Amino acid sequence: MKESARTRAQEAFPRRWVLAVALLVSLGLLANAVYTYITLTRLRAQYLDNRGYEIAAALDTQARGAGRRNNPEYWQSLLDTHYDVYSGSAAFLAVVGPEGRILASAGDTGAILDPGPDLFIFEDALGHPRRGRREAAPGMNDWKMRIGLYTSSADFIRRLALFQLAISAMAVLIILGLTFFLLRTLDRFLKLKAREGEEAQLRALGVMSASLAHEIRNPLGAMKGLTQLAQEDLDPGHPAQERLRTVVGEAERLERLVSDLLDFARPREPEIREFDLVPLLGDLRSMLQPKLAAAGVTLDLPDGPVTLRSDPAAMRQVLLNVLLNALEASPPGGAIGVTLAREGGFLEITVDDAGPGFGGRDPEELVRPFVTGKTRGTGLGLAVSRQIMERLGGSLTLGPNPGGGARCTLRLPDPGPRP
Ligand SMILES: Nc1ncnc2c1ncn2[C@@H]1O[C@H](COP(=O)(O)OP(=O)(O)OP(=O)(O)O)[C@@H](O)[C@H]1O
Ligand SMILES: [Mg+2]
Repeated sequence: MKESARTRAQEAFPRRWVLAVALLVSLGLLANAVYTYITLTRLRAQYLDNRGYEIAAALDTQARGAGRRNNPEYWQSLLDTHYDVYSGSAAFLAVVGPEGRILASAGDTGAILDPGPDLFIFEDALGHPRRGRREAAPGMNDWKMRIGLYTSSADFIRRLALFQLAISAMAVLIILGLTFFLLRTLDRFLKLKAREGEEAQLRALGVMSASLAHEIRNPLGAMKGLTQLAQEDLDPGHPAQERLRTVVGEAERLERLVSDLLDFARPREPEIREFDLVPLLGDLRSMLQPKLAAAGVTLDLPDGPVTLRSDPAAMRQVLLNVLLNALEASPPGGAIGVTLAREGGFLEITVDDAGPGFGGRDPEELVRPFVTGKTRGTGLGLAVSRQIMERLGGSLTLGPNPGGGARCTLRLPDPGPRP
């Protein structure tokens, strides 16, 4: 089978690598954002702890200056006078003795024992040195400074962390979006280019085949006719009969190739009229009967009448191609089933066979001109048929037959019976 220009162009483009790089960059960005978020969240706790330490140190320095650090009443007046200074960031200030006894407090004292989730509790020993700045005074064993800090005072850090996370998420979305957009645009571009190439090829083929076909047809007709005359002249049992039959068979094959090429290169205008599809199918079955019998294949047709407005000669050609394909794919004893259904303004003709199906191949590839899996096929049957169906305003699609084998679906516009 010929490899198509489209597939080659698409394979040449390393879409997987582009996707992998975009995903990797996105993952990196996300990991970095999460790491920053965690770091900033830790920083927030540290910020609150430092703020608590600053307040405790300032108060302790005051108390040390007065030389009355071991006096609870002194601490009470100190906290009372200084609470206002810190009320923006602290809900309460307290000095706590052994076993949690409150020696002095200011602010929202109810929160000392039940702080709730909006407060960060800073606690540090008063009577022991910390960071080399405080030392104990007599009678201050286990005295602690407890400060309830509003977590909201560190909210700016959380906002920063969330902002950073949002920016990274947005960057990831933009990168992924752009990558998909780029890949899709490129895909379309490649398809368009491949199609343009195909069309140019077909145009050239059209011109060439039209003149070639014209030149080939007449001598071919003469060769076939003369061979048939020779057959008549000879005894039916003459040993040359077999060879002459082969000559006629090959001439017919060439005739078909030439007319297929002509059909494809220079499609004729449809001649639309009302006709019944069922007798047309019956005619085709009679015509195919010798081949059906030789292959041991049956052809089941629907009951009529099924009238429609279309081009009967064109439909005959399409159905012949599709039925021939089904017949050629069918195993001995297999059945080909044709069904007709009217649906949503369309008449749908399905041709099912019990052959091997498409064996994982993309059926679209098989519709392309000159793609054939047969030694004696031209690969034009489906290409011509699709072109005809599209000219009639319909479509031809290939797919799997749910019962095994292949299914060819032909759709035709069906405005319904005329009044
Ligand atoms: N019903 C089917 N089941 C399995 N394969 C199919 C069927 N119909 C078509 N194919 C595959 O698609 C290919 C193309 O079909 P197409 O009718 O275009 O050309 P062809 O049958 O090879 O030649 P011809 O021009 O003589 O019809 C076939 O060669 C065959 O491999
Ligand atoms: Mg065919």
